[in-house]
Amino acid sequence: MQEQGNASDTGDDEPHAPATPAGAFQGGWANTDLKPQLLLGAAFAAKRRSAVSERFPGERIVVPSGGLKVRSNDFDYTFRPHSAFVHLTADQGTQAVPDSVLVFEPTGYGHSVTLFVRPRSPRDGGRNGAEFYGDRRHGEFWIGRRRSLSETADALGLEVAARDDLERALGRRVPTRVLRGEDAHVDALVPPASQADAELVTFLSELRLVKDDWEVGQLGAAVDCTVAGFHDVVGELGNATRLVRGERWIEGTFNRRARLGGHGLGFETIAAAGAHACVLHWMHNDGPVRDGDLLLLDAGVEADSFYTGDVTRTLPVSGRFTDVQRRVYDLVFAAQSAGIAALRPGARYGDFHEAAMRVIGEGLDAWGLRPPGGAASGSGADLYRRYTLCGSGHMLGLDCHDCADARDATYLGGVLEAGHVLTVEPGLYFQPDDLTVPEELRGIGVRIEDDFVITADGATCLSSGLPRGADEVEAWMASLR
Ligand code: GLY
Ligand code: MN
Ligand code: MN
Repeated sequence: MQEQGNASDTGDDEPHAPATPAGAFQGGWANTDLKPQLLLGAAFAAKRRSAVSERFPGERIVVPSGGLKVRSNDFDYTFRPHSAFVHLTADQGTQAVPDSVLVFEPTGYGHSVTLFVRPRSPRDGGRNGAEFYGDRRHGEFWIGRRRSLSETADALGLEVAARDDLERALGRRVPTRVLRGEDAHVDALVPPASQADAELVTFLSELRLVKDDWEVGQLGAAVDCTVAGFHDVVGELGNATRLVRGERWIEGTFNRRARLGGHGLGFETIAAAGAHACVLHWMHNDGPVRDGDLLLLDAGVEADSFYTGDVTRTLPVSGRFTDVQRRVYDLVFAAQSAGIAALRPGARYGDFHEAAMRVIGEGLDAWGLRPPGGAASGSGADLYRRYTLCGSGHMLGLDCHDCADARDATYLGGVLEAGHVLTVEPGLYFQPDDLTVPEELRGIGVRIEDDFVITADGATCLSSGLPRGADEVEAWMASLR
């Protein structure tokens, strides 16, 4: 479709667009104001804003949502606001507006917080009066209706102002920290980047480490939908084996569920059949799915609240593991079980990885497998890195790899606490060209990944709706085919 707006009306320079007939869009529009309910997450976001305010007294804090990114020419990628912005506003799904900016302005007693946002396109002429029909990026007739300012205030429980007022609002000289790199206009309006900005990034990331009840509920919903996507995929395995690019069929099947039940994907779906499973983030998904091979599916639905699941199952395409596939699967299963057993408040974050790697090490030793140089160069958990490739999990939340800017002391070198949500996902990957392993193992990759919330006395699995053990996986697949 091509824009029909008039370049002089809209400020848009579109050589292919016929001029808009004079007055075509003038007047005659009913009042369609809404009275939205306060979003359920809004009260939790308000508490998080209080934490920001307490940490940075007397300073202005600026957190942009980020904007649209061009996909090609005049089409953009689907908008997804920055996770720090979501965390502090609880804004959701298709209602989130590109180029929004949350500003904490210091007052005598704390901060007044205002969300600057692009309002609904006006229908009454005047400033931006042609936007609703003429602006292909922001106009209501092009991309859909945004909330008005008062509707946004009602939905989010925030003071709201028009983005056009932002420059004036940031005019007062006051110590300012900005989440930089998300909004070039904002970056230019405030003093140059400094260490203070880096501290803000760290603080906002660490503020997300412990999830509140609402977040745990959202993660549970995201994982439930992810589990449904895995069910869908097993039902489509037969079709996938008949297609040249069966991996794409798997990807599309999961992605349909993600769009149906949530905002979309938390990350691009990894549908890796056969030796592709030895590539950790295989996202080309352009290979066949063959009977007799394994399919490693690593996928996550992102809920409308932008919280995401992250689950992996490695499935025998035929419905039954071969002996050698089962041997590898059982070892990864045992390693994951040991990792899961190490999850409890007060445990070191590294404990579950070490527990899983101990089991892998013992298993590979029993098979007589030692990576070259391993004994000399590695020790403990990372001795078998040639076959395990990466760590055994990560924090999960708004980002799949959540809280990535937290300090070592609070994350990798820290201690598990109730409310942490994380994955446990050990794997074994025997590259198809690895001459250090017996031929029968080459090209086998297995990962099993589940999502856990740390509780007061242990951990709860959010993804227990999927079978984990080899027998259970086979029985489950048989029931769906
Ligand atoms: N899905 C990416 C990961 O598990 O880290
Ligand atoms: Mn993961
Ligand atoms: Mn994953």
